[in-house]
Amino acid sequence: MTRDAASFEQLYRDLVDPWDYETSAYEADKYQRSLQLLPRSRYGRGLEVGCSIGVMSTSIARRCDCLLGIDFAPTAINRAKAREVENARFEVASVPEGWPPGSWDLIVLSEVLYYLEPDALNRTIECVGRGLAPDGDCLIVSYTGPTETLLTSEEAGDRLLETVKRDREHHEIFSTSGPSWVATVFSSRHSKSSEVVGGI
Ligand SMILES: C[S@@+](CC[C@H](N)C(=O)[O-])C[C@H]1O[C@@H](n2cnc3c(N)ncnc32)[C@H](O)[C@@H]1O
Repeated sequence: MTRDAASFEQLYRDLVDPWDYETSAYEADKYQRSLQLLPRSRYGRGLEVGCSIGVMSTSIARRCDCLLGIDFAPTAINRAKAREVENARFEVASVPEGWPPGSWDLIVLSEVLYYLEPDALNRTIECVGRGLAPDGDCLIVSYTGPTETLLTSEEAGDRLLETVKRDREHHEIFSTSGPSWVATVFSSRHSKSSEVVGGI
């Protein structure tokens, strides 16, 4: 199963906060611990793909000079805009075709990759490879429970990691996990190739 823009849009019309992002202690802990993994305290240009109603975006924006959040569900984007996060912009866009141009110091993909069908996933992974700044970091958060999608959330995240690792010899990888999620940071700024599993 893949979910298209229309089905997500309907979900957001039916429910203000379909996954209880605003109120769930589980989500708050996941956001906090995922962002703690980032090796830099501050980033210039940040991109969040599949930003939903902008809850995680608010925390990401605190670490960036400017953040662009994109999602293909217009109702979700309107709710994100209503938060009026000073240094964040939110736009309706679908990946891979609507991938925003430019170079990004931080790219965040939290629980979004596994909704893409295989070809769209491959093209999105190419966009990440091209769009991530030479010293940029990419945060991937994956749900580890069962899904009805073609690839599990972890499998989709692993595909992205395998590709960016292949293309960037020098990198570091940090991971941490919670009850049903795993967060991984691919950091391309380090001069030596190494992998650190466990993070902070
Ligand atoms: C499960 S939510 C994750 C929200 C947020 N990233 C988080 O972790 O709190 C997945 C979001 O990705 C969006 N999405 C799914 N496929 C997308 C695509 N191809 N392009 C843009 N947004 C997409 C959905 O509309 C939905 O808001």
